[in-house]
Amino acid sequence: MNKNIRRRSSHSKESYREGFIDIIRPVYNNRHIQEMRLYPNHRDTSCLEHSLNVSYTAYRIGKALNLDAKSLARASMFHDFYLYDWHIKGNRKGLHGMMHAAEAYNNTIKYFEVNEKEKDMILTHMWPLNPKLPKYIESILLMCVDRYCTVLELLKIKSYRNDFSKDL
Ligand SMILES: [Fe+2]
Ligand SMILES: [Fe+2]
Repeated sequence: MNKNIRRRSSHSKESYREGFIDIIRPVYNNRHIQEMRLYPNHRDTSCLEHSLNVSYTAYRIGKALNLDAKSLARASMFHDFYLYDWHIKGNRKGLHGMMHAAEAYNNTIKYFEVNEKEKDMILTHMWPLNPKLPKYIESILLMCVDRYCTVLELLKIKSYRNDFSKDL
């Protein structure tokens, strides 16, 4: 019985991973999204790596809670799509924390179609720095996962950088 339970749980972990890869591969390999690897986000974690960390974490929690995991995975890949090094002052207009959600959304809709939920998730992920309240439970989840992954990256605890390098 224990063996069966173990087999089932490893299978579902594997199917989470496969489902995630299917959703994210076309986004991840888009050449504009790939540009995010040029910009550091937290310490030596690039914007691309951070987005992948947030995306996979949010997707797994979304699946477990029966939420819209596909939109969570996609919006997470877009939420910091601002394409500049925020550490360098001359590279940005206004305060990065307040401005980059809108910048990320504007870049996203140049190259991708997003649904209403994905739009809300991108635009409200920096709440309360962006005063618009998150409208969906998925938006609140992305906001929390973004902060959780940021802490892990700052402390250099966990990254999915190598977990997906061969599959994406
Ligand atoms: Fe952000
Ligand atoms: Fe972020």
